[in-house]
Amino acid sequence: MSALRNEAANGRRPLGIMAALPQELGSLIEVMRAESGVHTVTHGGRDYHVGTAYGAPCVVTLARIGKVAAAATVSALIHAFDVEAVVFTGVAGGVGHDVRIGAVVVADSLMQHDLDASPLFPRFEVPLLGIARFAADSALAAQLAAAAGRFIAEEGAALVQRFAIETPQLHRGLIISGDQFVASAAAVATLRAALPDALAVEMEGAAIAQVCHEYGVPCAIVRTVSDTADAHAPASFTTFLTELAGTYSNGILTRFLQARG
Ligand code: ADE
Repeated sequence: MSALRNEAANGRRPLGIMAALPQELGSLIEVMRAESGVHTVTHGGRDYHVGTAYGAPCVVTLARIGKVAAAATVSALIHAFDVEAVVFTGVAGGVGHDVRIGAVVVADSLMQHDLDASPLFPRFEVPLLGIARFAADSALAAQLAAAAGRFIAEEGAALVQRFAIETPQLHRGLIISGDQFVASAAAVATLRAALPDALAVEMEGAAIAQVCHEYGVPCAIVRTVSDTADAHAPASFTTFLTELAGTYSNGILTRFLQARG
């Protein structure tokens, strides 16, 4: 392990924490800056911020949007920083019938809804890997869900009063990823018909889960529902991103990291 990594992690392997956009990450980098100071390293056009948050050594970075961006970023976390595990936080479109704006979804499994090498390989299956659904690490996902549950219990009522959302619910299950922003009722109906148990759709999670699977690195994904992937999605996404995404990520990550300490 390099001097840099040793210094930041104090002998412990760090946790990789990712989001696509800065609003989805919240104030984690500022927390690290105040707690330990931050050392920033740039690889492949992305900044990796090394420090400690709530006593936990972390490398925090922004992937930007899409599966390729996410895969490239998580590869660097694994290779250059030897992360022990990866956690991704951000927003998603709700596609499950009872998944509403403001809900939190913690992935049990993830798949790429736009991957189709049929008839050579079954639809959705990653060719030559023979897997369509990638499991999140069950212990890490349980810790993330527990943190999300505590956040909702402690701050959910105040959020309902301040913003136009219903009482937030916590869901566990399938998150699907693809290189499309889904924004029509017809597209949601197509996704539901193909993958009836999908709870939420986004653009990075399954790519991270695949890379982590291939390297044997545990990963977990938490998503707050910013829209329901219909015609209102662009406006709802933009408002939620500006007003609430950071609040959810801060509330969930703070509790998650404090519990790891
Ligand atoms: N992330 C948030 N909302 C989304 C949507 N509707 N489609 C894809 N990714 C999203």
